[in-house]
Amino acid sequence: MHTPLLYALIAVILVSGCGNAQQATSAPAALRAPDVRYEPSPPEVVETMLKLGRVGPADIVYDLGCGDGRIVIAAARRGATGVCVDIDPERIAESRKNAQAAGVAERIRFLNQDLLTTDISDATVVMLFLSSAMNFKLRPRLLAELKPGTRVVSHWHDMADWKPEQSVVVRSGITEHWVFLWTIPPRGAGAKGAAAPARP
Ligand SMILES: C[S@@+](CC[C@H](N)C(=O)[O-])C[C@H]1O[C@@H](n2cnc3c(N)ncnc32)[C@H](O)[C@@H]1O
Repeated sequence: MHTPLLYALIAVILVSGCGNAQQATSAPAALRAPDVRYEPSPPEVVETMLKLGRVGPADIVYDLGCGDGRIVIAAARRGATGVCVDIDPERIAESRKNAQAAGVAERIRFLNQDLLTTDISDATVVMLFLSSAMNFKLRPRLLAELKPGTRVVSHWHDMADWKPEQSVVVRSGITEHWVFLWTIPPRGAGAKGAAAPARP
């Protein structure tokens, strides 16, 4: 083999080898910055969210923006199955570790994804602790993609003019936390109390 050709071949092997080594050792890259910063729901709020969502063994519970996984882990402890979705790979790693420690990891799927594109169609309960803007962005997808009867529970933030069927205040330390419940209506019925979207 000609010497220049041999050198070129060696260079290609070295470069591709280095790339593989990097892939094997580095942590997964974040998809993009989260839309909402991480802040865990206090345990009293988690309990209330499960209660309002009437979570039981037959449920598939999604937490869109799951943080350390505490809501889905608590649901799995009640016998439900669940899906933890977070855009931050560190949060997903933490959720998985916490679920393993709690002995419920086999009943939970962990998705490092943007919740705005996650397939939520098999959920029976959807948990949210995001922002008013994110709830408003999600609202049309919740109404279009979730089955009628699916419960949606949100910590702190409401859904603008889609009125909740239940609102509860939970005290944790000196802070009062609102928790809201909606149920997906039958197809074509629309969101009760919801006029045309009024906010961007
Ligand atoms: C306020 S924390 C709520 C954590 C958890 N649900 C709880 O109540 O304890 C919001 C979480 O949403 C995640 N998040 C923000 N934007 C997201 C997006 N577009 N897709 C998926 N996760 C997102 C953040 O990384 C963070 O972990």
